[in-house]
Amino acid sequence: MISSSPRCDQTVAWAALSGHYQAHGADLDLRTLFAEDPRRVESLTFEAPEVVVDMSRVHWDVATRRHLLDLAHECRLAERRDALLRGELVNGSEGRAVLHTALRAPRGQAPFSDEVHAVLDQMLAFADEVKASAGGPNPGDIHDVVNIGIGGSDLGPQMVVMALEAFANPRLRCHFVSNIDGQDLAGVLRQVDPKHTLFVVASKTFTTQETMVNARTARQWFLDQGGTDIARHFVATTSNVEGAAAFGITRTFGFWDWVGGRFSLWSAIGLPIALALGSQHFRALLDGAHAMDQHFASAPSEANLPLWLGLMDVWYRNFKGYTSRCVAPYHHGLRRLPAYLQQLVMESNGKGVDRHGQPLTYATSEVVWGEPGVNGQHAFFQMLHQGTDVIPVEFILFKGLPLRDAGQLSPAVQAMLHRQHQMLLANGLAQAQALMWGKTTEQAAHEVAPTASKEVPPEIIARHRTFPGNRPSLTMVIDALTPRSLGALIALHEHRVLVSGALWGINSFDQWGVELGKAMSNDLLPRLDSGDVSGLDPATAAMIARLRGA
Ligand code: F6P
Repeated sequence: MISSSPRCDQTVAWAALSGHYQAHGADLDLRTLFAEDPRRVESLTFEAPEVVVDMSRVHWDVATRRHLLDLAHECRLAERRDALLRGELVNGSEGRAVLHTALRAPRGQAPFSDEVHAVLDQMLAFADEVKASAGGPNPGDIHDVVNIGIGGSDLGPQMVVMALEAFANPRLRCHFVSNIDGQDLAGVLRQVDPKHTLFVVASKTFTTQETMVNARTARQWFLDQGGTDIARHFVATTSNVEGAAAFGITRTFGFWDWVGGRFSLWSAIGLPIALALGSQHFRALLDGAHAMDQHFASAPSEANLPLWLGLMDVWYRNFKGYTSRCVAPYHHGLRRLPAYLQQLVMESNGKGVDRHGQPLTYATSEVVWGEPGVNGQHAFFQMLHQGTDVIPVEFILFKGLPLRDAGQLSPAVQAMLHRQHQMLLANGLAQAQALMWGKTTEQAAHEVAPTASKEVPPEIIARHRTFPGNRPSLTMVIDALTPRSLGALIALHEHRVLVSGALWGINSFDQWGVELGKAMSNDLLPRLDSGDVSGLDPATAAMIARLRGA
């Protein structure tokens, strides 16, 4: 049993953090912190499996970190983590355990191991079977996989398949359809041949409107195109096996209610990943995540990377007052990582009551957003450098760049691409440097030629070219984006969310906030047809009239 722990705002450490913030924390300046401590980088670089994180440019000092550790201790964070890993019912509002870590544990090393490995073996055997004839000429040989799912049944698999393109089977294309907007599905159907397409209907509940509607339309399209063998061309990944059977799908890969949607890419929901990459790479993804699980479970507090990331998140949100963080992966393959993290972080920790249903008096989830470097630099980095808000940035850099089919490129092109990778890294490093150091008006003035403009005095131009600096960031470094390192990176973010959620005393595993709109949309659908707006608020009624052209 988890013993009850005090709410973070009722601890001595919370009061100490408030005092510390008033006394020094509000004015921490990275440049001073570096000047005062020549060992800052060394002492704030954390090594976890596959991932090294430099947190020296985080807005904190020794005292901040000591109070944060005290907070973790007082909130009995280690106990909460261990209870979760043991499979206790930590998702109170739904009466469930939270055991996505069991999905990546080696045989016999976690709860439900027999069930987990039975489905995993089955699913990977199926993936390898599809792979054996992928791209072949015979009807039933699969060329295209279409995953139909939304939220956790889309974002995780899609992000991973995109990220690991260099490891993917070139004879199998993967498509992801999530939006109820028919353009999404229609766009994919235009590209595929029913004889060579495998539809994966991915839904934990098998009731999600968007997914069910898309799946029904896909099935109709398949039949209209002369497709007959639904059993071969449609599979389901779900915890609702009866629902899938009622839909007419006989091949189902199941999972369990203790796997939350946003934590489900390690389960049968990962089938598109296994199809795209093959069983060996899927197992490597699981291994990487498991290595991070072990680190989280057993590394001492001082060296526990997910712990420090979660503590930083609480410090930033509740004391420094930062409302968002920007994720900037310097790897084109990770272009869906920010979207994936949005669900992971904001659906988990965007809560307004504590575990006991008491309203919170402090802020919870930050907004997570971002774009891959360097594209973001040419869009919103202006605001990060000179805007009025301070937004911490998280750079993710990779030493190497495994390219798909690199051997087919000439040595000259390979060398040029290698150079581009170095340029990518130089850009990421420079952004972190510029954010921290900034540029004074005096420095800027030296750059402005006295004759720069007849109308605008040089000192005004210099002020526009001034950067305040002291903008915080952290940098994650990974050798190369591989199945194993990606598994570790994702698990790191999952655990970080558990840490901040546990400190905030909230249930990070339910998502009641998405239900109200779902129910209302069911009420509005027939009204869009009939035009009946009785009992609706004036804004919605007027909008229905406008959309119906009345
Ligand atoms: O509406 C939110 C949500 O429940 C997510 O938590 C979940 O990942 C998504 O919908 C899809 O749910 P399902 O896998 O049951 O279709």
